Amino acid sequence: MDLPEAWKTEDGSALTLRRLEESDAEKLIAFVRGLSVAARYFRFGSGDYDPGLDETLRYCRLHHDEGTHLVVLTPTACGEQVVGSARYVIQPDRTSCEFVIVVADTWSHHGVGHRLIDALLGCAKAQGLQKIHGRILASNRDMLQFVRGFGFAISDSTEGDWMKIASLDL
Ligand SMILES: CC(C)(COP(=O)(O)OP(=O)(O)OC[C@H]1O[C@@H](n2cnc3c(N)ncnc32)[C@H](O)[C@@H]1OP(=O)(O)O)[C@@H](O)C(=O)NCCC(=O)NCCS
Repeated sequence: MDLPEAWKTEDGSALTLRRLEESDAEKLIAFVRGLSVAARYFRFGSGDYDPGLDETLRYCRLHHDEGTHLVVLTPTACGEQVVGSARYVIQPDRTSCEFVIVVADTWSHHGVGHRLIDALLGCAKAQGLQKIHGRILASNRDMLQFVRGFGFAISDSTEGDWMKIASLDL
């Protein structure tokens, strides 16, 4: 998988997709704190979720053997800003992985989510993984529709009616 990937949106904004680095910790925290209550609820299961530095650093230090964390950044007057984040974590069977994704509300419907999922699937395949799945709240209709577009199958979870599983063979 060739990363970083750089492109411009229709309005000329510059975006870069690359692997998360340890020096991104503060940017990732600012990104999560800037998300709407709805985005935080759908992504983290809690509308007031706030990441601590320790937890964020754990993600930043995710080893290649454990998974991959990607971010999309854009330059601003105050420095680079994270506008999207996606990660997969390799499961104990070593052949499958679980993913999560979130895009800044102000950047939704600009293709950032598509870029992140495409790159995440590319990295997972390149790492020899065979299956990817995500846990998605049943009320998160936009996300369920979004992943269907990538060929994910949606099934019930053992957790209850409120949680769905989106899965894809890589
Ligand atoms: C679901 C989510 C990741 C989608 O991210 P996004 O960046 O808005 O996704 P995209 O812009 O790539 O695609 C969304 C729609 O925008 C439109 N779109 C795509 N590229 C576009 C572009 N360049 N310009 C304008 N619109 C575009 C498409 O209509 C697309 O619809 P489709 O899925 O039917 O193709 C985002 O809404 C999100 O973060 N949700 C909250 C977190 C969450 O629910 N996470 C799931 C649990 S882990």
